[in-house]
Amino acid sequence: MARIIAVANQKGGVGKTTTAVNLAAIIASWGNRVLLVDADPQGNATSGAGVQRGSFRRGLYHSLVLDEPVASITLPTIVPSLEVVPSNKDLAGAEIELVEVEQREFRLRRALASVEPNYDYLIIDCPPSLGLLTLNALTAAKSLVVPIQCEYYALEGVTELFDTLARIRRLHNPGLMIEGLLLTMYDERTNLSAAVAADLRDFYGLQVFQTVIPRNVRLAEAPSHGKPIISYDANSKGAEAYSRLAREIVYESKSAGSGSGGAAVL
Ligand SMILES: Nc1ncnc2c1ncn2[C@@H]1O[C@H](COP(=O)(O)OP(=O)(O)O)[C@@H](O)[C@H]1O
Ligand SMILES: [Mg+2]
Repeated sequence: MARIIAVANQKGGVGKTTTAVNLAAIIASWGNRVLLVDADPQGNATSGAGVQRGSFRRGLYHSLVLDEPVASITLPTIVPSLEVVPSNKDLAGAEIELVEVEQREFRLRRALASVEPNYDYLIIDCPPSLGLLTLNALTAAKSLVVPIQCEYYALEGVTELFDTLARIRRLHNPGLMIEGLLLTMYDERTNLSAAVAADLRDFYGLQVFQTVIPRNVRLAEAPSHGKPIISYDANSKGAEAYSRLAREIVYESKSAGSGSGGAAVL
C-alpha cells in the first residue's frame, strides 16, 4: 500500500508547495515510485516539478469532476520515477461544481484508489484554504505534513486546521495521522525564528519534525527553472534540509510500516 501524505495549511506562502515538490522529488530519487498530486488551482506544484503551464489539457479537475481516470492525466517529470497529476485554474471550478455532488469529500480518495498500487508514495499539495479541495485531500490522505512559517502569527490558524482535522477523522477518515509539523523559512539570524520554533516545540512537542527548513534562496529560485532543489542545486542548504526531512518521513515516521504505528492525536 502506498503512503499517501497531504501537505496542508490554510495559510498561503508558508512553504506547502516547496515541501510537496521537494519531498516528492527526493523520495523518488531514492528509487521509490512517487506521484505528486497538485490539488491547488494555482498549479505551482505542477510547474515546480517542471511541467509547463499550457503543456497539458487535462488535469486533476477532469478526474475529480468528470471522472476521468487519474492514470490518463498523469505526466512524467525530469526526475525518474516521479510523476505528477497536474492542475491549473480549471481546478478552481471543482470547489463549486462538487458542492452538489454526493460524497463530495471522497472524490479524490476514489480517484486515487485506482492508481495507488502503482506507487510507493502519493504526495498531495493542498491549496491555501480549508475548502472542498483540502477536505478531499485530508480524506484521501493517510497522514499530514503541516508546514509552518517561522513568523509572528505562525501559530494562528493551526488550531483551526486541527479542528478541521478532528472533524475529518470523525466523519470520513478515522486513521488520518499527523506526520509532523514542519518549521519552514527558518532564519537563524533572527530571534523571531528561534522564538517561534521554541513556542511550537513547547506546544506540540514531538509532533514537530526535528528537521527545520532554513530560509534558502536556492529553494526560492528552483521553481522558476522548473526544477526540484535536488536537480537545481543538490548541494544547497535547502536540498540538505529537505533530504533530512525525507529521511525522517521515510525511515522514522510513526505512520510508516504496517498498521500498528500510533496515530498521533492532537
Ligand atoms: N525555505 C525557503 N527559503 C526561501 N524561500 C522559500 C522557502 N520555502 C518557500 N519559499 C518561497 O516562498 C514562497 C511561498 O512558498 P510556497 O511553497 O509556494 O508556499 P505555499 O505553497 O504554502 O503557498 C515561494 O516563492 C517559495 O519559493
Ligand atoms: Mg502552494
